[in-house]
Amino acid sequence: MTSQPLKVILTRKLPEEVEARLSDLFDVMPYNDDSPMSQSALLAAVQGCDVLACTLGDRIDAQLLAQAGPQLKLIANFGAGVDHIDVQAAAAQGITVTNTPSVLAEDAADMAMALIMAVPRRLVEGVEALRQGRFVGWSPTWMLGHRVRGKKLGIIGLGRVGQAVARRARAFGLSVHYHNRNRINPHVENELEATYWESLDQMLPRVDIVCVNCPQTPATYHLLSRRRLELLHKDAYIVNVSRGNIIDEEALADMIVEKRLGGAGLDVFSREPAVNEKLMAAPNAVLLPHMASATVESRIDMGDRMLINIKMFADGHKPPDRIIPEML
Ligand code: DGY
Repeated sequence: MTSQPLKVILTRKLPEEVEARLSDLFDVMPYNDDSPMSQSALLAAVQGCDVLACTLGDRIDAQLLAQAGPQLKLIANFGAGVDHIDVQAAAAQGITVTNTPSVLAEDAADMAMALIMAVPRRLVEGVEALRQGRFVGWSPTWMLGHRVRGKKLGIIGLGRVGQAVARRARAFGLSVHYHNRNRINPHVENELEATYWESLDQMLPRVDIVCVNCPQTPATYHLLSRRRLELLHKDAYIVNVSRGNIIDEEALADMIVEKRLGGAGLDVFSREPAVNEKLMAAPNAVLLPHMASATVESRIDMGDRMLINIKMFADGHKPPDRIIPEML
């Protein structure tokens, strides 16, 4: 490893304290714009740095990586999801990729739980009705939603965020069902009193609320396809705080509009920042601008985690949050 500080290019403005800590340790080139870099700016970055500190919204594909300079050795992602990085292509070029898992799990789970409550209880519809002057007094039959307690929650992906959602859900009186690539440790399963479904098709018709928490990979693209969405009962709800493309968004929008599903709480979309117009117009869809990890605390912790990965790498060690392509 060189004794010169590593040259780190940031592709996005990060919290001030994170940038200051990074600058104490490395030769950092900040980027003062709060929108994603153009592909040409990204190309210049990968040709001119040892470490690319990137984030969601950057497209780090095989074509870009093929033009990277030989000095590019680490892609340190600020965020947990790495679906915007071609990790296979990076590995083939000997470039390490890291992410910042776990530190944002509790905040993401809070947002998932907020959506699990908000959609059946029509929280946003109520706020809008009041603001628009449609509240003319309490009514026995107005603004009726559905009770959350006693319902069955089906979690897709019982990793860090999924388990944090499950703990919250149990406190709200939901029973926990889950589908995961592999069955989880029996101690955790017992603690959560979680029922494992090896077959997603078997789980879907039996649950009332589905919460998507798995990462987006080629295997999970449109995992909730139109056929699978049609397995849900007509009052079921969908919550997604992971990635938009895990659901066939067009099919979901059709079913929400046609009332073949109860509603949806979505923090993520297929073509962000664009949002499906049918979903935008649907009163039973609660839509958020990808903000599940948007707390000051999470963003600072994500920065610290990214810094730890870069520092370990700079010191010649394996960074703790390496992405192993075969594990995706
Ligand atoms: C992530 O870390 O991938 C999140 O989606 C950002 O909130």
